[in-house]
Amino acid sequence: MAKNIPAMFDHRLKLIICLVISMSTNISAHLTADYNNISITILGSAVAKGAVCLDGSPPAYYYVKGFGDGVNNWVLDLEGGGWCASDDFCATRLKNNLGSSKYMNGTHEFGQIKSQNQTENPDFYNWNRVYVAYCDSSSFMGDNIQSETGINRRGARIFNAIMEDLLAKGMANAENAILAGGSAGALGALFHCDGFSELLPNAKRVKCISDSGVFVHAVHLPGADRRANLFAKVAAYQGIPVDSLPSSCTSRMNSSLCLFPENFIGDIKTPLFLIETAFDQYQLGSHYFSNGSAWKNCTEHLELCTPSQLQVMKDYGIAVRQTLQEISDTTSVGMFVHSCLRHGHTYESSGWDSSYVLANKTIAQAVGDWFYGRDFFQEIDYDNELPLFKNCTKLTASTYDPSLYA
Ligand SMILES: *[C@@H]1O[C@H](CO)[C@@H](O)[C@H](O)[C@H]1NC(C)=O
Ligand SMILES: *[C@@H]1O[C@H](CO)[C@@H](O)[C@H](O)[C@H]1NC(C)=O
Ligand SMILES: *[C@@H]1O[C@H](CO)[C@@H](O)[C@H](O)[C@H]1NC(C)=O
Ligand SMILES: *[C@@H]1O[C@H](CO)[C@@H](O)[C@H](O)[C@H]1NC(C)=O
Ligand SMILES: *[C@@H]1O[C@H](CO)[C@@H](O)[C@H](O)[C@H]1NC(C)=O
Ligand SMILES: *[C@@H]1O[C@H](CO)[C@@H](O)[C@H](O)[C@H]1NC(C)=O
Ligand SMILES: *[C@@H]1O[C@H](CO)[C@@H](O)[C@H](O)[C@H]1NC(C)=O
Ligand SMILES: *[C@@H]1O[C@H](CO)[C@@H](O)[C@H](O)[C@H]1NC(C)=O
Repeated sequence: MAKNIPAMFDHRLKLIICLVISMSTNISAHLTADYNNISITILGSAVAKGAVCLDGSPPAYYYVKGFGDGVNNWVLDLEGGGWCASDDFCATRLKNNLGSSKYMNGTHEFGQIKSQNQTENPDFYNWNRVYVAYCDSSSFMGDNIQSETGINRRGARIFNAIMEDLLAKGMANAENAILAGGSAGALGALFHCDGFSELLPNAKRVKCISDSGVFVHAVHLPGADRRANLFAKVAAYQGIPVDSLPSSCTSRMNSSLCLFPENFIGDIKTPLFLIETAFDQYQLGSHYFSNGSAWKNCTEHLELCTPSQLQVMKDYGIAVRQTLQEISDTTSVGMFVHSCLRHGHTYESSGWDSSYVLANKTIAQAVGDWFYGRDFFQEIDYDNELPLFKNCTKLTASTYDPSLYA
């Protein structure tokens, strides 16, 4: 027996050494290949605060710690995904990630402004990075505490609960911080921008980024009532408190119109950057602009557009640029406005660090320069020869998904 023990140990030791070697090979391979594959954090403690997804499940986010000189810097990115504004439509979200954390992915691939790859993301790669999951369908703005219908509408509480949690995780000591968002998440970032800044009174720089969040009213173009009604329905159903909207806007117009960014961006005090196109694929191709089907084919293949659709599209491009031009004339809001058919720029790396160049800068460069104050950036691409969108073939058109539309 006694003799065998060393042999057994020896054998086990070899096995363990082998295991450790193979594991560490796997781990390092895993780290290089998968360093952007980030696990979900489900915030169970939020439930007691009434901060829940549409189905009553806890809200969630994906978080990875900062390192090196990024250890006290934070970038938060709010997920988008349209809105819902009726029991029937919201019910369709109870069994997917847009209404329930039970259906969210366990991991999320971080890219672009959240990428840990220094080449792709030189200014933010080592920051604390957070992707805030979207499960309220109100751009993190609703607070309808009545839920007799079994559909919870608590977007604002979700935002507050997650902020509280991140502050405790170290965000309270942030030196640099960004609140960003895409699409409906961008609307949330605009809405919460000044409030976020107030949470970080000791930070050196706090700024906000809206990616494809300027949903225009375009009051003189077809569908203006449809667009206004959509936001009015969202505000009413989701219970967006009127006093949470900027009073500088609500004192001037019907409060439901204060969900259009053009009506309140000028009053945001925190430095802001807009990433936009004059031809937003969602706004043009969805029932936000028309009723969907008629526009889908046209926005994917110009040759299928009717002459009147082409005219509307030209007029729309002009209206968007005018709206943004007015913002840039009266504010120091940074902006990168190109002319490709697109919705969202931080989903695909091509949108962030290569495909678009204005004034010799990619979005990644323009945003980095603006954030650190190396260079101000306010560019609107306008080519009189091209009244329609440019065909940016390098980009895959995002898929038309009717389920995203209220
Ligand atoms: C991310 O990690 C999870 C869990 O380890 C794994 O199942 C998934 O395949 C990974 N995703 C990618 C894109 O590597
Ligand atoms: C969840 O993961 C699947 C598979 O990787 C992916 O196709 C899908 O887009 C992800 N959903 C979200 C909301 O990120
Ligand atoms: C980082 O990004 C660059 C440029 O996209 C790419 O060539 C490189 O392979 C990436 N590195 C890793 C480790 O993924
Ligand atoms: C504001 O607009 C909504 C939606 O169009 C409408 O129902 C409401 O009556 C308006 N309120 C006022 C005070 O005009
Ligand atoms: C959708 O738009 C098309 C073309 O403009 C029109 O013919 C159709 O009646 C509309 N459908 C609905 C449901 O509004
Ligand atoms: C859109 O294109 C598809 C396939 O080419 C066609 O079946 C459909 O009828 C088109 N829709 C409209 C509204 O033109
Ligand atoms: C852009 O050009 C490509 C190649 O010529 C073509 O297949 C595609 O349909 C065009 N896209 C649009 C939106 O016109
Ligand atoms: C454009 O930018 C690149 C690298 O950022 C630089 O090398 C080049 O000189 C710039 N070109 C002009 C015309 O400014």
